[in-house]
Amino acid sequence: MLKRPKIAVIGAGNVGATCAHWLVARELGDVVLLDIPKVASQTRGKALDLYEATPIERLDCRVTGTDDYAELAGSDIVVLTAGSPRRPGMSRDDLIRMNAGIVAGVAAQIRERVPDSILIVMTNPLDAMVYAAWKASGFPRERIVGQAGCLDVARFKTFIAEETGYSVEDINALLLGGHGDDMVPLPRFTNVGGIPVTELMSAGRLHELVERTKTGGGEIVELMGTSSYYAAAAAILQMVEAIVRDKKRILPCAALCQGEYGVDGIFVGVPCVLGAGGVERIIEVNLDDGERAAFATSAGHVRELVDVVRALFPQFA
Ligand code: NAI
Ligand code: 2OP
Repeated sequence: MLKRPKIAVIGAGNVGATCAHWLVARELGDVVLLDIPKVASQTRGKALDLYEATPIERLDCRVTGTDDYAELAGSDIVVLTAGSPRRPGMSRDDLIRMNAGIVAGVAAQIRERVPDSILIVMTNPLDAMVYAAWKASGFPRERIVGQAGCLDVARFKTFIAEETGYSVEDINALLLGGHGDDMVPLPRFTNVGGIPVTELMSAGRLHELVERTKTGGGEIVELMGTSSYYAAAAAILQMVEAIVRDKKRILPCAALCQGEYGVDGIFVGVPCVLGAGGVERIIEVNLDDGERAAFATSAGHVRELVDVVRALFPQFA
């Protein structure tokens, strides 16, 4: 018998709750929201509130809120958003120390309760946290992946759409590297309706849009006092939908590289084929010298963050 997909979202804060909203709005499956016991009542309330919207929108999704990992049983996909977001003035290192223990603890629960699920990690600093979750869960590389590139490339596409006045639907773009200010948007692999973006604006203007993309997360933090959640949660939706509907989409995700792009043993943003099997493939494209150097710098920074995780948790070395 075919069953409705079940998607667990750990962390029912801004990103987790908004993600649940998108998942239900797209009727992708039943959703379980899980947060810590201290906020169990709010978590149950958020889930019930969303569930009570389903008759209005005619969406057959059960939504539950809990602080009990037993309720994750049978989940096909787990989205890990637990942990603190960046506030203005906070360094990435501050977040590692705050979030690595949370992520490792949650991932150990996931290993125990839903060992066959596909795990999508969201918590920042993303590339290092997906590494910590990988070590703590022991999941194979096709079933653990980090979300960053879908959000970052969506920002790049938004800015291109705004600049050109053309539909967001027609913009295709690629972006590689870690989820930091040295991420690597790739204009050479970006087009609008098949027309290279380089033909649609000046090199100077394109450079400005690339730079705005790289600092796009910080722009939102400065404006809101906390990090993105509408676009961030939509980015998770894109990945979950690709998996649930076995779409074989090519999306930039933080995947475990084992030699691809010259990187070994860490997670970094690369083009992945996402389908029912999770990360079914990493696609390697030929980079020019400048692109390769920028990617190497970004991957080098990810490795430094992973080294901090390894120092905090020697068992993850
Ligand atoms: P938030 O503070 O609104 O929510 C975080 C939630 O995690 C809280 O409800 C908290 O109670 C919960 N939590 C803490 N420890 C937990 C545990 N052990 N088990 C279960 N839940 C726990 O934060 P927000 O805005 O939802 O962000 C969550 C994370 O996502 C942050 O680390 C943020 O930086 C990251 N993020 C990542 C993005 C990406 O592109 N990868 C984009 C946006 C945010
Ligand atoms: C973002 O890019 C901070 O990761 C968060 O919005």
